[in-house]
Amino acid sequence: MSDEAGGARRVGILISGRGSNMTALADAVAEGRVPGARIRIVLSDRPRAAGLEAARERGIETAVVERRGRTREEHEREIIEALQGRGVELVCLAGYMRLLSPCFVGEFRGRLLNIHPSLLPAFPGLDAQRQAVEHGVRVSGCTVHFVDETLDGGPIVTQRAVPVLDTDTPDDLAARILVEEHKAYAEALALVCSGAYEIHGRRVLKR
Ligand code: GRF
Repeated sequence: MSDEAGGARRVGILISGRGSNMTALADAVAEGRVPGARIRIVLSDRPRAAGLEAARERGIETAVVERRGRTREEHEREIIEALQGRGVELVCLAGYMRLLSPCFVGEFRGRLLNIHPSLLPAFPGLDAQRQAVEHGVRVSGCTVHFVDETLDGGPIVTQRAVPVLDTDTPDDLAARILVEEHKAYAEALALVCSGAYEIHGRRVLKR
């Protein structure tokens, strides 16, 4: 379903915390840098996620579906209903801290994006920036990828690299990567909304 107003694709963003990638996406859309996208809803599994207020300030509808008192299946089903009830076509995970089941992934296959703070396939999982510093890599960065059933393993849409300096703490590196995350996510969403790509195996190729 497309937005009646102008054919824009309706995007839902899932967060759990700060929401800086969400605001970067919302601002990029508002500034016309993601043609063909409209942020329809920001949904959090944590009621106190700071990103919720940031979304409201931008005039975006928000919703909270808490994990507490729900099985994983019930939790995901409610999220799916909230998204589908608003005609959401594309889902962006932006610091959403709960693993999604194959059921959720199947519901949004090819329409579900995630951002991860490393150059995948290096350093999947939690604390990617610390993993990078401790491993001694000289270059790290971020990856926007389609989500499949594997952990941080789906086809890669875009990556941006940053240097890792001798003096870096994990927090220093995280801050440097975050600047690139905000650019990468908007670029990736613009590509996916344009539809000008094909997926060949694991490769996302621009048309
Ligand atoms: C980002 O580093 C993102 O790559 C990771 O979680 C963090 C979320 O930050 N998945 P924010 O909530 O978008 O500020």
